[in-house]
Amino acid sequence: MAAGFKKQLVTENPSFEAKLSRKRIALCFFENSTRTRFSFEIAARHLGAGTLSFSASTSSVSKGETLNDTIRNLEAMKVDAFVLRHPSSGAADLITGITTKSVINAGDGSHEHPTQALLDMFTLREYFGKLENLRVIIIGDVLHSRVARSNIYGLLALGASVGICSPVTLMPPDAAKLGIALFTNLDDAIRWADTAIVLRLQLERATGGYLPSLEEYSVHYGLTDEKLDRVRKHLLVLHPGPINREIEISNHVADRIQPPGFSQSMLLEQVTNGIAVRMAVLQTLLAPDTSC
Ligand code: CP
Repeated sequence: MAAGFKKQLVTENPSFEAKLSRKRIALCFFENSTRTRFSFEIAARHLGAGTLSFSASTSSVSKGETLNDTIRNLEAMKVDAFVLRHPSSGAADLITGITTKSVINAGDGSHEHPTQALLDMFTLREYFGKLENLRVIIIGDVLHSRVARSNIYGLLALGASVGICSPVTLMPPDAAKLGIALFTNLDDAIRWADTAIVLRLQLERATGGYLPSLEEYSVHYGLTDEKLDRVRKHLLVLHPGPINREIEISNHVADRIQPPGFSQSMLLEQVTNGIAVRMAVLQTLLAPDTSC
C-alpha cells in the first residue's frame, strides 16, 4: 500500500481518494518533532481525515492534567485515533488501556519508534529490492535510540542481518542477546555492511559518563568521506533525523544524494517515504477493508 502512495506522492499533482473523510485523528505530541508530526498530518490530510494537533506546552497538560485525563477528554470529542509521542517509555502501550480507539506510537522515550522503522525498511526495500540477507549496520547511540530498537526487531523479522557499531558505553546491556553483530570499530562495521543507519547522538543524554568528549566520538564514530575512502566501500546511508552535522555524520555524507562517490544519502528520501508509510498505517487501521 505504501508503494502505491509513494508512486502518487512523487507525481506533479498527487491525488488520493478521501478514504478517511469521516475520521478525526489526534496528533498528541508531548515531545518535540518535525518529521513525524508533519508527515502524520500530511498523511491524514491526503486521506481526507481531520486532525487535532496537540502540544503539551499549549494544552492543559501545562496546568497539571494527566495523560489519562487528556486521552479520555480527547476521546469524548470523538476522535478515531491517537498518534502519540511521549518522553516516557511505554506511554503508547499505557493509553491502549484507557481508550478503545486506535493508538499509533510515534516514539516513546528510548523504547520504540515503529513508524520510523517501517519507513526505514521501506526505503531499504525500495532501493535494494529486498531485505533478506541485507547487512544493515546501525551506527551510534544505540543505547538511547528508540529508532534502533524498532529497526532491529523489524529488520530481523524480515530476514535482514543487523549489526550495531558504537562505543561499549552506548550499546544496550542486552545487545549480545539480540542476535545481531556487534562492532566497536567503525572500519570493520563499514566493511561488513551493505547499508548504514546512522543515529543521532542524543546530546541531551549521551554526554557526561558515556563519552570522553564529542570530538573523540566524532573522530572514532562520525561517518565521513575519509573513513569510507579508507575502507573503499560504497554505502547507502540513512539517518532518521534530526542530524548533528559534523558529529555523527559529515556534511558531505549527509548531503550527497547522487552517486558517484563513496556513499549515497537517503535522508530526504526517507522523509518523503515517511508520508507514504504513515498514510498506509492510517488507512490500514481506520479503513481496513480498502486498498490505495
Ligand atoms: N525521525 C524523527 O522522529 O524525527 P522527528 O523527531 O523530527 O519527528
